[in-house]
Amino acid sequence: MYYLSIQGNQKLKGSVSISGAKNAALPLLAATLLSKNKINITNVPEVADVKTLLTLLGNLGSISSYENNNVTIDTTKVKSACANYDIVRTMRASILTLGPLLARFGHCEVSMPGGCAIGQRPIDLHLKALEQMGAKIELKDGYVLATAPQGLKGTTIIFDKVTVTGSENIIMAASLAHGVTKLVNVAKEPEVVQLCEVLQNAGVKIEGVGTANLTIIGSYGKLLDMKNFKVIPDRIEAGTYLCAGAITNSQITITDVIPEHIEAITLKLIQMGFGIETTKETITIIPTEKILPADIETTEYPGFPTDMQAQFMALCTQASGTSIIDERLFENRFMHVSELSRMGTNIKLKGHSATVEGNTELNAADVMATDLRASSALILAAFVAKGTTKVHRIYHLDRGYENLEGKFSLLGAKIERLEE
Ligand code: UD1
Repeated sequence: MYYLSIQGNQKLKGSVSISGAKNAALPLLAATLLSKNKINITNVPEVADVKTLLTLLGNLGSISSYENNNVTIDTTKVKSACANYDIVRTMRASILTLGPLLARFGHCEVSMPGGCAIGQRPIDLHLKALEQMGAKIELKDGYVLATAPQGLKGTTIIFDKVTVTGSENIIMAASLAHGVTKLVNVAKEPEVVQLCEVLQNAGVKIEGVGTANLTIIGSYGKLLDMKNFKVIPDRIEAGTYLCAGAITNSQITITDVIPEHIEAITLKLIQMGFGIETTKETITIIPTEKILPADIETTEYPGFPTDMQAQFMALCTQASGTSIIDERLFENRFMHVSELSRMGTNIKLKGHSATVEGNTELNAADVMATDLRASSALILAAFVAKGTTKVHRIYHLDRGYENLEGKFSLLGAKIERLEE
């Protein structure tokens, strides 16, 4: 197993290019199940989650190649509609095949994703919406068995909660459904918007893209004429590098980003005292004399993303006072707190709220990654700790950050991947 060895007391400098968004690439790859032709997708990040989904799509019968951030995929020969446990258990997002498989074949079997490190994460809203579209759903031996022999039917669906992959699953299902589907309380994340745009380019009529209310005219089961496209930049990777600049109080520039997608993050950094300079596709963070404490509440887009909560928690330990972080989306997304405490942080948890003491001198330690974003918080803390930190179980990081140690090395960090 690999770990990262990171020297502390570091300053960073220079610029780093941001990769394509993992959370956009996953639903878009699942959407290729709706296509009647071969598609070329560029700017696909080379991360483990993408490889896992391509393996799953391959098991179903698709043919793909994946080189230099380019995926060419042909799903026309897909015959099987069974996403089995062996793959789904390694990646929750495999559930994104449920909507497209059911819409295309009128039946499918997808293993239940189960719990994960950041909480229970149910899929009840995905299933309820498909039932409203006429599907019969049975849960058996850990699998969702779904059937809709006459095809899915357009209807009005009001999501009880905003769910990102839930919205994406139902948008894909509605694209092939019979009639008009009205979706209310849809997620507005940029990744959901790109999925809608790619489906629109494939001929699906969708109104309200980027809002909480969508009207989708289904194709009555006809496969779509999908065009080639480029995956949008990863706003969470972008935010993580900005936080690295912030915690080391260094000037760095991130390139190939869409600054509008990262506004909740850059606004928070400005509130904490940092300067932010933006061009059309770049963001530069400018150091501050005093890092101010923050008040953060995670919420749905365009609010502050839960996927940036752990990184800001590491940053807040270097602020000049006490910060409060409220986690509103996931009940158990504070696993990084106990690992950070091994480095000397003073963070108190009460319910979904964390009180983070600033002015903390951090010391290097052996720490363990617990989930994808929690791992990046440990790296950020290691950059300002005294000594050399070892971050173990970095397979979590490899799920979602492309070439992480290469990119940080480019910024001047002393970071190495070593074998245990
Ligand atoms: C997606 C992102 C993940 C991000 C999260 C929130 C992908 C692949 N993953 O995850 O990185 O942290 O959005 O921005 O895009 N819920 C239910 N029932 C459901 C579905 C969700 O109760 O059927 C709840 C969840 O437990 C959670 C909230 O709704 O409390 C939001 O979850 P959701 O938006 O569905 O997260 P994911 O789509 O799994």
